[in-house]
Amino acid sequence: MDLKLRIWRQPNRAAEGKLVEYHVRDVSPDMSFLEMLDVLNERLTQKGEDPVAFDSDCREGICGTCGAVVNGVAHGPLPATTLCQLHMRHFKDGDAITIEPWRAKAFPVVKDLVVDRSAFDRIIAAGGFVSVRAGAAPEANSIPVSKPDSDAAMDAAECIGCGACVAACPNASATLFTAAKISHLSLLPQGQVERQRRAANMVRQMDKEGFGGCTNIGECTAACPKEISQDFISRMNREFIVSAACPKE
Ligand code: SF4
Ligand code: FES
Repeated sequence: MDLKLRIWRQPNRAAEGKLVEYHVRDVSPDMSFLEMLDVLNERLTQKGEDPVAFDSDCREGICGTCGAVVNGVAHGPLPATTLCQLHMRHFKDGDAITIEPWRAKAFPVVKDLVVDRSAFDRIIAAGGFVSVRAGAAPEANSIPVSKPDSDAAMDAAECIGCGACVAACPNASATLFTAAKISHLSLLPQGQVERQRRAANMVRQMDKEGFGGCTNIGECTAACPKEISQDFISRMNREFIVSAACPKE
């Protein structure tokens, strides 16, 4: 396949960025999207040009490191799929593909397609932990958890922290991410110790980082590679009402 790529190039946070056009020939339909970018980068490097910076790690759809907006869609056109798991067979020979970084005030561009997602780490640090002693793994049945709660907690825990929900939201809200993290801990017995203060602390941190508010548009769930449900946002709101009444920490 031969492709015409338009890629956001921005040398650093302070510099102005722009879309730069590249023609990439002989792309195999079996390549992943990131492998296609690897090929482009090899060719750029051979020509002595600066390769395109992009994030990746596992390339198996589990770590949440990759991500870019492809033709206006976070993680590209395939539902429930991370960018690293998107394959070139979903594109056609001759396609023009525009590739941009996540766009959000709270995710400043570091370089090209790489954005700084440390705001997510600070939301987690504000309350996304449990203060149980982490010794050897206890016997699985020693703490009973109901099946519905365990299923819901596992669904919430699927969030890989990629940030596509923020990129897709017109308000650049981090509500789906924060709701997933708050929910998976509040549903389990181990998460009860901090439960009363967790939601308020995490939501306050989310606001402090400059993410927008949630207006129930639903783009977040549509873009989420793990299909995190908006039901968790309702759960977060309930947790927040109780939690906000507790003293600030
Ligand atoms: S909620 Fe979905 S889109 Fe948002 S960070 Fe988690 S996995 Fe990514
Ligand atoms: S590189 Fe890990 S999810 Fe894509």
